[in-house]
Amino acid sequence: EKGRYDHYMRKEISEQPTALAQTVEGRIDDTDDSGRQIDSGNDSDGNVADGSGDINAGSNGANSEKNNPEGVSLEACPPGTFTDVSAIQFVACGTSYHAALYGQQLLARRGVAAQTFRAGEYAMAPAPVDDDTLVIGVTQSGETADTLESLRRAAERGARTLALTNVVGSTAARECDDAMFIRAGPEIGVAATKTFSSQVATLALLAERIAGDVADAGGEDDQLLAELSTLPDAVQRVLDETRAMEVVDRYRGMDSYFFIGRGVAHPVACEGALKFKEITYEHAEGFAAGQLKHGPLALVTPNTPVFAVFTGRHTEKTLSNVREVQARGAPVIAVVSETNHEVIDTADATLTIPDAHPDIAAVLANVQLQLVAYHVADHLDRPIDKPRNLAKSVTVE
Ligand code: F6R
Repeated sequence: EKGRYDHYMRKEISEQPTALAQTVEGRIDDTDDSGRQIDSGNDSDGNVADGSGDINAGSNGANSEKNNPEGVSLEACPPGTFTDVSAIQFVACGTSYHAALYGQQLLARRGVAAQTFRAGEYAMAPAPVDDDTLVIGVTQSGETADTLESLRRAAERGARTLALTNVVGSTAARECDDAMFIRAGPEIGVAATKTFSSQVATLALLAERIAGDVADAGGEDDQLLAELSTLPDAVQRVLDETRAMEVVDRYRGMDSYFFIGRGVAHPVACEGALKFKEITYEHAEGFAAGQLKHGPLALVTPNTPVFAVFTGRHTEKTLSNVREVQARGAPVIAVVSETNHEVIDTADATLTIPDAHPDIAAVLANVQLQLVAYHVADHLDRPIDKPRNLAKSVTVE
């Protein structure tokens, strides 16, 4: 039921505070003396109280048959689960690929070797693995053919596999050695919105768990874990205070829309562009900000607005890219912390977010970009929940 919303996508954007609260519920334990640790995410029955039936966390470990007839035990990754992992490979498509890129960066920052592959390519030419390699399939539906094929190719060559998915009982959850559920609740709109946010939050929890298990990874980032529990409120503030509609009104009918960012802002820029092109049918591209001068800058004109995503890291470098595109006449819309006056003063327009840990700011910035795509598509009267040529779950390779 869409309720008071015109589209499921708009409803699902609004549901993100609830979805994120479910995602992190019970998984951050601040009572432990050693600092915040990730917990199983389940109550003693292995359930979280939501009733939608698809939001449990689980692991298909040795006891899976006993615990659950579907083969999914209801235990999430307990301490020590990832002690033997020496390298991580993410396989995913589309929006889930962008979430995986975020997870990769969180792990890499903790010294854990991680790579991200587009599942369609990995299935054709899998990267080398051994039995200390953990291959994580990030897939909302758990049914994307390319992702399933990549996971199968990894498993048959001896890697351990983990499904990070929204759907309990999905093929990915059943076939992988372990499953971790993102608990976003059902998503009807073809464009992934709340599931991206919940994937990212789950990946932050998982990266912390892996960093805690793998020797020399430097332990957990207490600040990030603490802010994950306040993320639902911060997202609510973005939803309540957004000026996305009036900002996009100023930039209609342009040739193309570019999105740039560095670090975790890079997957957010790519995701912002994917959502924009998918539902507006306008041309949009996302770039690592540093890549602009290696080609894309040739396209920049006064008719190509540039959305620049700032998270609090690499600010000066991204600002210099902003000045480069402004020098070519392009208007810059910064998505940035409300306290960053230097960026606010430089940009032509701003969409502000609450001040937050950079890895949290990435989620908040993405919510603004979801709203940007939505308002442009709505103005153009596009069929937002069912964009042409697209399906919610892509079951052919
Ligand atoms: C974009 C979108 C798609 C999916 C992709 C993977 O809004 O929804 O790009 O992200 O088809 O789907 P899952 O996550 O189900 O594997």
